Amino acid sequence: MNNDVGAVLMTAEKLAETVKRLAEEINKDYCGKEILFVVILKGSLVFAADLMRNITAPMRIDFLQASSYGSGVVSSGKINIKKDIENDAEGKHVLIVEDIIDSGNTLAKIKQLFKERNAASVKICTLLSKPERRETDVECEYIGEIIPDEFVVGYGLDYDERYRNLPYIGILKPEVYEK
Ligand code: IMP
Ligand code: MG
Repeated sequence: MNNDVGAVLMTAEKLAETVKRLAEEINKDYCGKEILFVVILKGSLVFAADLMRNITAPMRIDFLQASSYGSGVVSSGKINIKKDIENDAEGKHVLIVEDIIDSGNTLAKIKQLFKERNAASVKICTLLSKPERRETDVECEYIGEIIPDEFVVGYGLDYDERYRNLPYIGILKPEVYEK
């Protein structure tokens, strides 16, 4: 285990099971409808890559990058679209794929953006959710795992751009970000 990680929250096996369960729910709900699969960079990259290979509905894949966090561990509340999708979302069944919902501020704004673009439907699939930290209520159709208020890294999630490559999700030792 990485030295900066205090405890493992989700092992690689648990992650694979969770991804399969989410994909089954998605396959059932979309059955044949084409999905515009919007991967929120960079945190959901590993999750999205695993999830998409378990989805049988037809899909187009696109990427959106928003920023609200710098190198800190607390959301700044403002969001900024750094990279937009290339597909036209009008009339499409948009499925937003996110790594974690924390304050909810980022996703609430992204969901609103696709509604304004007249998507046929907008749903959210998040691997993790920290409900204790919610500031903005955002409806989320697919949730992998509810987690406590701890800063987690791995499987795409970072602290200061590090740890994304860990094959599990672990709790970052507070001394790493408190120094
Ligand atoms: P929100 O707008 O506060 O919900 O911010 C969500 C974004 O913050 C996520 O997409 C992550 O990039 C980041 N984030 C929130 N909590 C964590 C965490 O525990 N570890 C790593 N990134 C996190
Ligand atoms: Mg991040």
